[in-house]
Amino acid sequence: MEGEKKGKDDGKSPKKPEGKEEGAQGAQGGQTGGAIDALAAGLSNYFSSAVKLDDAEKVLSEVSFEGVAKYLKSDKCTNIITMAGAGISTSAGIPDFRSPGSGLYDNLQKYNLPDPMAIFNIQYFTENPEPFCHLAKELWPGHFKPTPCHYFVKQLHDKGKLLRHYTQNIDTLEHYTGLPADKIVEAHGTFRTSHCLKCAKEFSQDWIKEKIFAEETPTCDAEGCAGLVKPDIVFFGEKLPDRFFSCVKEDFEKCDLLIILGTSLSVQPFASLTGRVPTKTPRLYINLDKGNTDVDPFMMLLMGGGSTLNFDEEGNYRDVFKKATCDEGCYSLSELVGWGKDLRKTVESEHKRLDAEIATDKQKTNATKGASK
Ligand code: OAD
Ligand code: ZN
Repeated sequence: MEGEKKGKDDGKSPKKPEGKEEGAQGAQGGQTGGAIDALAAGLSNYFSSAVKLDDAEKVLSEVSFEGVAKYLKSDKCTNIITMAGAGISTSAGIPDFRSPGSGLYDNLQKYNLPDPMAIFNIQYFTENPEPFCHLAKELWPGHFKPTPCHYFVKQLHDKGKLLRHYTQNIDTLEHYTGLPADKIVEAHGTFRTSHCLKCAKEFSQDWIKEKIFAEETPTCDAEGCAGLVKPDIVFFGEKLPDRFFSCVKEDFEKCDLLIILGTSLSVQPFASLTGRVPTKTPRLYINLDKGNTDVDPFMMLLMGGGSTLNFDEEGNYRDVFKKATCDEGCYSLSELVGWGKDLRKTVESEHKRLDAEIATDKQKTNATKGASK
């Protein structure tokens, strides 16, 4: 499919490890021949074997969740990068994409799409905007209530340890924790602004919301334009925001702990960021499963190189997988570091405050509805 290109192209694309079907694909997955496979395996071996650190250089005293906690607590760990996906928001009631049964891509039958990911494909959208607009209405959050995992990221910031939070999510929940905007990189954009695909006129969140809720195709109101207006979320086949690339360049070489949260690591170029940290840097992956950590070494190379996650390899000195929900994993980590009580207190008081706000908003909406009858 045009626009789902791989490799050096900066456009967003799903990746397909061998044996995993991902619906519509670009060239890479299906065309990997025997010779290429052999080369890929060679590269994979190269990446996993090339890095040999002296004991003195190893950062973790113990390659385990507890070892990461001990390191996190130390003064040596001050530039943490968190990389997040839909799994950090499922406990807020927002479905992820690929979990069998509950994930969004298993629940789009009514749209008769050529494949589930077409709903976020720029070319498909320009020809058929209705399915996306209908889905956007269905999924528009009634309220914004961050999860304990979101508050853990804010806690890392409050403790002066967060370098940056990279998220693929478009739900903007991290902002509601009070995490400053400059600490957040929204790799796949958000609904906050929209643009006309023809003349590039910008539209506000309220404007697009009104169109979506009225089930009208959002069309540009600039004189003589009538172009299609699309929220600034990154569709397959579109380039990621410039800020993503500039921050990656600035941040990743400084990262001294990478925490990967609630993502299947299926979509490029985001997934390959795991390989952009220095070879010494420990990497902790908190997720319900190991996602697509069998990364194609070619893709890793093309996206800037680096080592794939190697939890089970002999000689692993830095990669830790924690099978848990993001909330449980973050609470446990915070607990081990000695911040658990504070985190629980924050979650409790912030949820109480937000619940009160949500109740007031509901009352206002009901009053307005009553008055307009
Ligand atoms: P996925 O649905 O691909 O992956 C979510 C991951 O989180 C899966 O590995 C789940 O097992 C895991 N998970 C779910 N709930 C969890 C929980 N409570 N705790 C821990 N893990 C949990 O979502 P992403 O990786 O975010 O792009 O998907 C990446 C991109 O693909 C999205 O940004 C989206 C999609 O196409 C758009 O087009 C908008
Ligand atoms: Zn226009």
